[in-house]
Amino acid sequence: EPLVVGIDVGGSKVLAAEIGPAGEVLTTATRVTPGRLVEVGLVEDALTLAVEDVAQGRPVAAVGLAAAGFVDAEGERVMFAPHLPWREEPVRSRLEERWGTRVVLDNDANCAALAELEHGAAAGAQDAVVVTMGTGIGGAVVVGGQLRRGRNGMAGEFGHAQVVPDGHPCECGHRGCWEQYSSGNALVRLARARVGQEPTLLDDLCGGDPSRLTGPMITEAAGDGDLVARQAFASVGEWLGVGLANLVAALDPEVVVVGGGVSAAGDRLLEPARAALRRALVGEPHRVVPPLRRAHFGPEAGAVGGALMARAALG
Ligand code: BGC
Ligand code: NA
Ligand code: ZN
Repeated sequence: EPLVVGIDVGGSKVLAAEIGPAGEVLTTATRVTPGRLVEVGLVEDALTLAVEDVAQGRPVAAVGLAAAGFVDAEGERVMFAPHLPWREEPVRSRLEERWGTRVVLDNDANCAALAELEHGAAAGAQDAVVVTMGTGIGGAVVVGGQLRRGRNGMAGEFGHAQVVPDGHPCECGHRGCWEQYSSGNALVRLARARVGQEPTLLDDLCGGDPSRLTGPMITEAAGDGDLVARQAFASVGEWLGVGLANLVAALDPEVVVVGGGVSAAGDRLLEPARAALRRALVGEPHRVVPPLRRAHFGPEAGAVGGALMARAALG
């Protein structure tokens, strides 16, 4: 088997992975995403280091990039990415030239959906909605067993559906986007406002500096019973369910799958989301409410899908 590497390029981190025959993750490597207002070369450097960490000197036959942004219909360019510096950037060919290896590109949530359809929580599903909760919210639509990309490759950008007119500013430039209420960014914003105001384990975890709070710290504190962290999850989970109710109303899927970094919190996120989905879904109880499942590949679904895409490209 030639080595293929999948890389999830997110707003906070880059995660590279090598997978086995059924998509199982064999090795991973991570790097911090250098930021969204930096030279694109810095992002490319982070990707390069992550691939090298996974490869450990072995030749890489293909790399599958799962990018947190709007990828064009040809899989050539990242047209727009709220959390990354890429703007109409020919990412695929640039990296293919830099690395001298085959590169394939798709949106991160689309990649997560591929992984979950092939080997995960959406296996066998004809109609599914997949969302990834990381820095933002990514989305993918599966109809008739196929991923739908829309006319320009940009379908599924649910994270930027406006849910609060004049609400919190979003990195996309608009206000009130769903991902400002239900994502890693939302968790951090909610928790940050309370650090220093009331006793919380987060104080210690961020070294007394709320600007250093991260999503994983909030997940950890919630696991240790911290009230501030748990309430942040309750809010983000409720907003997740409300948004999903709108997607279920539009698409009537048989299953909804949630991946991304925030999904590592499991039922702490999904239980409030299930309750809100049921409450907010039109027509309930006179209809079927689809099950809300954690992605089988969890926070690694995007990278696994990237690797599967790279494997498929080799034929
Ligand atoms: C971007 C999507 C991406 C998602 C998850 C959103 O802000 O617009 O393209 O899939 O974040 O990373
Ligand atoms: Na998508
Ligand atoms: Zn937005």
